[in-house]
Amino acid sequence: MMNIAIDGPAGAGKSTIARKVAQKLSFIYADTGAMYRAMALYLHRRGISPEDGEAIAKTCMEPEISIEYQDGEQVVVLNGENVNSLLRTQEVSDMASRSSAVPQMRERLMELQRKLALEQNVVMDGRDIGTVVLPDAQVKIYLTASVGVRARRRYLELKEKGGDPDFATIEEEIAARDHRDMTREVAPLRQADDAVLVDSSDMSIEEVVSHIMTIISDRTGI
Ligand code: DC
Repeated sequence: MMNIAIDGPAGAGKSTIARKVAQKLSFIYADTGAMYRAMALYLHRRGISPEDGEAIAKTCMEPEISIEYQDGEQVVVLNGENVNSLLRTQEVSDMASRSSAVPQMRERLMELQRKLALEQNVVMDGRDIGTVVLPDAQVKIYLTASVGVRARRRYLELKEKGGDPDFATIEEEIAARDHRDMTREVAPLRQADDAVLVDSSDMSIEEVVSHIMTIISDRTGI
């Protein structure tokens, strides 16, 4: 199977770009952040505190999480329920970022991720795909952008949805999330030694996609 790993911080455009690359290659797109978010939703519903590592380690063993594909779109199924539309709230983002530091939670989701990659050609995005989950992926990309650019993208996205976001708050939240993701003990966010760095700060989505397609074709001949 062909495995393409795309890692990087929140807001670098990973999911948009990974989805488009997967479409071009006719591969499955696997969004591992959504799996962490589904688990986080479960923890949140159970009233678990994001600070309570012990309770998280125990409770994350309870739910059945699976991945299905409908029209090429990944659907995360939590105990039989399609939870895709419930994964983007601030509570879930915060719980996902904090609970993803718990080793038991990572182990559980990694099993699911490896199984997907064994069975299908995938473009998988996350934080530790090239370093931990799929160390043998044929192509690894580390996709990043400056904090300012990522905050601006998020700000515009929220504004477009009719919100009244505060730019400084968004910038602070992104910087805090980066710090947590990069300094946690287990599987911290970092560029794999054999990953290609792509900085999307001054690139359009289409430019990034075509740049990554070139990297993939140079490395694999497809
Ligand atoms: O990519 P995202 O924002 O949807 O990810 C949500 C959280 O899950 C993020 O704060 C870090 C965590 N995560 C992780 O630890 N490892 C992954 N492979 C993917 C996400």
